[in-house]
Amino acid sequence: RPVLLVNGPNLDLLGRREPDIYGHDTLADLEDRARRTAADLGLEVDARQSNHEGVLIDAVHDAMTDHAGVIINPGGYTHTSVALRDALAALPVPVVEVHLSNVHAREAFRSHSYVSPVATVVIAGAGLTGYDLALRFLAERIVRRA
Ligand code: DQA
Repeated sequence: RPVLLVNGPNLDLLGRREPDIYGHDTLADLEDRARRTAADLGLEVDARQSNHEGVLIDAVHDAMTDHAGVIINPGGYTHTSVALRDALAALPVPVVEVHLSNVHAREAFRSHSYVSPVATVVIAGAGLTGYDLALRFLAERIVRRA
């Protein structure tokens, strides 16, 4: 089963959005890199992005049955969404929360995540490398359980 890679609101603007914070790589660059990294690890990636909370929740529901693990950057919903957290808490597979920026070094409201308590792993501040690290973790976790 593939790994579900979910990017939340405003991450479609990557490369153009606050490049000092989020870098110059686009969402397409991010997803291409994740696919290549996954292939090196013997994994497949199912990549989604949405600006809509309900669409993100529906994507997470797909992972109830269709995916071996989830990598999610919930964007601003990290700090607001009980509903997204509840969807992730329902999953039988490992969840890795990824943030491009170090959310703890920014505004105080970014330090609180509704998602972190239900995530298996949390990665922040490593930029695109964070997604590579997430895939590496899942590769080891999935092989160990296989
Ligand atoms: C982000 C951090 C969030 O606080 C912010 O709302 C985002 C992106 C990150 O990847 O660093 O949209 O999740």
